[in-house]
Amino acid sequence: MVFSEPRSQVLLVDDNPQNLKVLFDTLEGSDYRLLLANNGKKALAIAEKLKPDLILLDIMMPEMDGYEVCDTLKSNPSLRDIPVIFLSALDDVESKVKGFEKGGIDYIAKPFQPKEVVSRVATQIKLRRLEQQLKEKNRELSADNIEMQLKLEAQREHLAHFSRLSTMGEMAAGFAHEVNQPLTAITNYARVALRLLGEDLDDNTVVNKKMLATTLNKLEAQSHRASDVIQRIRGFVKKPQSGKTIVDVRSLLSDVVQFAEVDVKNNKGQVVLKLPDELPTVEADAIQVQQVALNLIRNALEATSACPQETDGAGDPLHVSVSAYADKQMIWVEVKDQGCGFTEDAEQKLFHPFFTTKGDGMGIGLSLCQSLIQAQGGKIGFRRNPDKGITFYFSLPICAR
Ligand SMILES: Nc1ncnc2c1ncn2[C@@H]1O[C@H](COP(=O)(O)OP(=O)(O)OP(=O)(O)O)[C@@H](O)[C@H]1O
Ligand SMILES: [Mg+2]
Repeated sequence: MVFSEPRSQVLLVDDNPQNLKVLFDTLEGSDYRLLLANNGKKALAIAEKLKPDLILLDIMMPEMDGYEVCDTLKSNPSLRDIPVIFLSALDDVESKVKGFEKGGIDYIAKPFQPKEVVSRVATQIKLRRLEQQLKEKNRELSADNIEMQLKLEAQREHLAHFSRLSTMGEMAAGFAHEVNQPLTAITNYARVALRLLGEDLDDNTVVNKKMLATTLNKLEAQSHRASDVIQRIRGFVKKPQSGKTIVDVRSLLSDVVQFAEVDVKNNKGQVVLKLPDELPTVEADAIQVQQVALNLIRNALEATSACPQETDGAGDPLHVSVSAYADKQMIWVEVKDQGCGFTEDAEQKLFHPFFTTKGDGMGIGLSLCQSLIQAQGGKIGFRRNPDKGITFYFSLPICAR
């Protein structure tokens, strides 16, 4: 007699009914029994009752988020072995790393490619099946089976390693991107310093000494920044929450404008800082916020210099303006440019990693900014200016106190 195997059960968890439907439609054609849950509690109840073979778990859900659901699963010996694939719109390195730390086996970023979901699910289900078959056989224990079990574990580890590697790749790109800016500035300041040294010193000695000191101070500041950025990125992998302090956005932005000096020169641009006399403090990682502001300013300078130049009507050269204000428990920082903006088509992809329209761009800046700001509990976005150019903005939560 031939028994057909029971169908594998896949539990889909997402608080958004629309997303749940899309997932359901995607996997409906495959021969699984699909179970649905629209919140973490229900997901756990279903898992407990039906012991699914795989869980596709959304991260951002109210009340109990995906990480918490995963924690609960992993702390329960009878549910611990159910593989979890995280599924989330948070396509940033930090949340991926966190997903793997929580014991997730894979990570799919939304919006997803249906084919990708189908094939990842199939792979995990296949592994799960093999694992279960082996477990059965292991009960009639033999040395062969132990070896098979080990092989299987190695295969699973291998797969998880691949997913982790692509995350590492993105991280490495982010790293290169952020360190490149201070390094370029350091090279520039070193050149200026050498030129000052080489100049005829006769009647310029005092002036040159002063300029030399200023230039070397700037160089030093940039090299501190480079090492801070490296520290931060290292910390980011290990402890995402680390590094938060009470930050004065006004002085932070003034520092950033200093750091952007070389970018200003390279783009023959100008940055105008428009700050209120007072602003509440925020709780954030200052270095990471600096990175965000600097990336937005650089993009704005590049957009403005790439656009055919004219004056702004008042006879002033085109400039990028940076401003900040407090509203609804948040500080909002805006970077307004007078560039040519972007097409609607590009608009959809701006925050995707590696999307760039620049010959020498990496397309990492905005995707990194998004990760960093989300890690601070803020938002990032843009709007088209009524006259010309774009305003990018981000927010940070005001210190509660
Ligand atoms: N202020 C802006 N005005 C117009 N287009 C912009 C602006 N900021 C970003 N963009 C568009 O978004 C794309 C992605 O920006 P992002 O900062 O992620 O990468 P990049 O600037 O191209 O390269 P890099 O990784 O070196 O920063 C840019 O190539 C550009 O097309
Ligand atoms: Mg950029």
